[in-house]
Order: sequence, then C-alpha cells, then structure tokens
Amino acid sequence: MARILITSGPTRQYLDPVRFLSNASSGRMGCALAAAALAAGHEAVVVTGPVEIAYPPGAEVIQVVSTEDMLEACLRVFPGCDGLVAVAAPCDYRPIKTAAHKISKTGALLVLDLVETPDVVAALAAIKTSQWIVAFALETQDERLRAMQKLERKNGDLVVLNGPAALCAADTQVEVLDRAGSVLAASSGRKEDVAREVFAVIERRLIQSPRPEER
Ligand code: C5P
Repeated sequence: MARILITSGPTRQYLDPVRFLSNASSGRMGCALAAAALAAGHEAVVVTGPVEIAYPPGAEVIQVVSTEDMLEACLRVFPGCDGLVAVAAPCDYRPIKTAAHKISKTGALLVLDLVETPDVVAALAAIKTSQWIVAFALETQDERLRAMQKLERKNGDLVVLNGPAALCAADTQVEVLDRAGSVLAASSGRKEDVAREVFAVIERRLIQSPRPEER
C-alpha cells in the first residue's frame, strides 16, 4: 500500500481582492487518479486549487488557492508520502503585488508586472528521498520532445503527455513516457478510464517494482 500525493486543479493568483489569474483546469483528472489509487488499495492525499468537482470520499483533501499555498501544503505532506502525481495546473505567474483594494478603471492602459511562481514538482524533486514523481505535460508542439525535456528538468520518473483539449473536458488523450523516451501506454477516452490505465502503469513501474537506480 502506498501513500500518494496528488496535486490537482488550477491555482489563483489575485491581482486585487476580487480579480485573479487562473486557468480552465477542472480537477477532473486529479479526481479520477485519486479514485484509481483508492480503488487499488492505496491512500490518496489531494492538494487542490479551487474546483467545483467533489473528490472521492476516501481521499484526504487539502484545499489551497495560490501556487505558493500549493507548494507550502505539498512540502508538509510529501515527506510522508511514497510518491507524487502532479496533475495540477498551477499558475506560472503572479502579479508582483496584489492591490489592497479593487483596481478602479481609469481609461488608461493598465500594465501588470508578473513574476514566476515556484514550480511545485521541481521543489519537491529537490527534497525527495525515496519518492517517485509523475509529472504531466500539456503541449501543443514538439509534444514528446518537450515532455521529455520537462521530465528531465523536473527530475521526474514518468511524464503523462496530453493536449490542450484535456483542459476542463470529460475526455482526454494521453501518452505515458519514461526517462528513456519509451511510450509505456497510450490511452484516450473518459478521464476515469484513462486515469485507471495511467495508474496501472504507475503501479507496475513505480509502486510494485523499484526504479532502475534502486535495483
Ligand atoms: O512546466 P509545465 O507547467 O508545463 O509542467 C507541467 C507539470 O509541472 C505538471 O506536472 C504540473 O502539475 C507541474 N507544475 C508545478 N508547478 C508549477 C507549474 C507546473 O508543479 N508552477
């Protein structure tokens, strides 16, 4: 039995008390992966940004708002987990400062200065001990190449490649790649079914059998 950390959903970066930057991630794939992990007898801790879906009752759910909050929650939980499945779509940028009051219209150009937020996967990879890491990559060009580069950069074990049509949709299409660039699985259809197939690869490659460097 493994304890698995799943990051899920979007994050929000507030410009002022009522406006934020975000994206269309629904949390559905994170929900489906948590369900697949629980059904296989594992524990799932889901760190999620604001979503409308309900995660499976057996999952431990930690709600967060910003990418910084997501990182903070994950840094707390990750040391007690066996692995990470990072399916969240955290905002990559935040405003340099959040206005204390609602920004009023002036008729003039409004310029936002944005800075990068922390990369949750990379930060967890930097402190990992024996944990395995599965990242997701949403690409629109040179998909496999970019997914592999991401896997390398974020120091993960597997990467799940999907396209932009997966965002906020009921269906998805994925490929699971390892560090050697081998396609371990290709799956399309309802996210629940795809998640079960992706999770089966995770079980086979990372939970049941040790990674090559540990053999
Ligand atoms: O670099 P990119 O955002 O395309 O990488 C996607 C992967 O990185 C996903 O696994 C996503 O959950 C994770 N990620 C993250 N923190 C960020 C941005 C992405 O953990 N700030």
